[in-house]
Amino acid sequence: MDQSGTVDSLLQEERVFRPLPQLVIEANVNPQELEAAHKFARMDSLGYWEEAADELDWFKKWDQVLDDKDAPFYRWFPGARCNIVYNALDRHIETANKNKLALIWEGEPGDQRKYTYFELYREVNRFANALRSLGIRKGDRVVIYMPPLPETIVAMLAAAKIGAIHSVVFAGFSAKALRQRINDAQAKLLITADGFYRNGQIVNLKETADEALVGACADCVDSMVVVRRCNLSVDMMDGRDFQYEDLVRQERNEAPTEVMDADDPLFLMYTSGTTGKPKGIVHSHAGYMVGVNRTLTTVFDIKPTDIFWCTADPGWVTGHSAGVYGPLMAGTTSVMYEGHPNYPQADRLWSIVAKYGVTTFYTAPTMIRMLMRFGAQYPKQHDLSSLRLLGSVGEPISPEAWTWLYKNIGRSECPVLDTWWQTETGMFMIAPMPISLLKPGSVTKPLPGVECDVVDRDGNPVPPGKGGLLVVTKPWPAMMTGYWNDDEAFKECWEKIPGVYYAGDVAKKDEDGYFWIQGRADDVINIAGHRIGSAELEAAFGMHRAVSECAVIGVPDKIKGEAAKAFIQINDDFDPDDDLIKDLKRTIRNELGPVAVIKSIEFRDKLPKTRSGKIMRRVLKAEESGHEIGDLTGLEED
Ligand code: WT7
Repeated sequence: MDQSGTVDSLLQEERVFRPLPQLVIEANVNPQELEAAHKFARMDSLGYWEEAADELDWFKKWDQVLDDKDAPFYRWFPGARCNIVYNALDRHIETANKNKLALIWEGEPGDQRKYTYFELYREVNRFANALRSLGIRKGDRVVIYMPPLPETIVAMLAAAKIGAIHSVVFAGFSAKALRQRINDAQAKLLITADGFYRNGQIVNLKETADEALVGACADCVDSMVVVRRCNLSVDMMDGRDFQYEDLVRQERNEAPTEVMDADDPLFLMYTSGTTGKPKGIVHSHAGYMVGVNRTLTTVFDIKPTDIFWCTADPGWVTGHSAGVYGPLMAGTTSVMYEGHPNYPQADRLWSIVAKYGVTTFYTAPTMIRMLMRFGAQYPKQHDLSSLRLLGSVGEPISPEAWTWLYKNIGRSECPVLDTWWQTETGMFMIAPMPISLLKPGSVTKPLPGVECDVVDRDGNPVPPGKGGLLVVTKPWPAMMTGYWNDDEAFKECWEKIPGVYYAGDVAKKDEDGYFWIQGRADDVINIAGHRIGSAELEAAFGMHRAVSECAVIGVPDKIKGEAAKAFIQINDDFDPDDDLIKDLKRTIRNELGPVAVIKSIEFRDKLPKTRSGKIMRRVLKAEESGHEIGDLTGLEED
């Protein structure tokens, strides 16, 4: 890449990075083709997505591309029959991909496992048979509470293969948070591991899983499957708990793939919103597979020789679309790493890139900021010349972090592809391709077939350079098909600003039509790229006897992007001392898990409230930032 403009320019946003000619020549989608795709999609977006659907295999093709009669309950590819696992695995067994590596996995202690497509296919079949023999059927919910292990992928694919609906719960969530998700999904089966390695320690997961099942709803989870990872001796409840290895050993290598209707659910992913309870976002087989396949292969320009590494945990949507389903559908080789990025020291990720010859490295700004802090001497010790593309997701990336990644990891040659999307969108929405002109900090433009805008509260587009609300103005195939058991909340996403999907982000567009995401417009805090609702944290604090009233807001954090700060009014018989602070933090850990980090707690005699008694987080936010209220964009919700 060469660069027009000056490096030291104060107005960093004005720098434009151009791709190296070689990248453009070799790209799957060249600039003319991209222009043509945009033009085609603008004229006939359904035609564009139909063409994308034709790249995949179907048991029966659709009667219609999109049925919008019951909007916002859009139905993509109605009448079609398919299974995403057929596209992710089964079909590769008939091709040259059969003996290609599907997965390279590395454990934190340094152990490795590799699976070809054929091996993964067989392992999935054996576990699919095991699931069937445990009584799991089409439509049943299976919760997967696992660290990044090959079996996590196997469990997801095996569940989907037999038509069950999986819901992966990040291993950093507490027993309570897990129980809440199990209950909401009315899950029949829980899959977990004895433990996993994290930062040199063993985390015992089975214990937490057991704790979650105590008091879980009576008619859910009648069995639990436990993968052996750390050789821990764990309590196994007779008749309820099964060792994964014992189950698969006796199963056959072949298993029929369930024929699914287009909008049969594939997975639930619980995510935080503005209410006190996370919601189960539903993604379905057909639309999700079409949207993810098209966007992943074009944005990351996937080639047969690639080694693709998405560092996201499978417990998040990034781990689903870019860690499991997307790369497998594309027939590429993925890397998965179990442990902490700084274990045993700050070059672990770079050693993995060098060892396996990673070509595409997709991560989050919080990771980059953390690695930046350790300095460029760590990447310098490794041969990173295999890299050709870098990617970022989860939160706004500062031009500083962008440039660090570009220079120190990407040799000032690899484009940094900043992708905007959400659990709700399932697929990349606003993102460049390797051929795009890049501006550090901008997610560039909506992909072909995706239409977004920046509008005011009434839905009127705002002029370039002005902040507004990010909306998606047309349905897209990988859109969530609903919230689990909550149609009203789903409708709200489309009714807040009538007729368009309200993403909950503040953004602006520049003169060139490039989008710049500025952060959340609602009370969702983005801690290290993970969403957590103010209301959820407040409810968790409320479980402590000392708390009378409480408000939680997001405050800037150098590494995590945002962190949570709590303002608490305590009951009279408690002392606002360090012990109480420790105890309150412990409560949050118990309620939600280590994923919910509280940066600071401030005791107040009184919290600012509206006349109707609602706590005004916005006032606290303004105080913290030193801005006038409403000075930020004026668009934040109360
Ligand atoms: C929220 C969605 C699927 C991505 C992982 C997070 C923020 C996401 C970007 C980006 C700026 C971003 C938004 C969005 N976000 N990508 N490239 N630049 N902000 O998924 O947990 O559903 O969170 O993450 O605020 O609304 P998620």
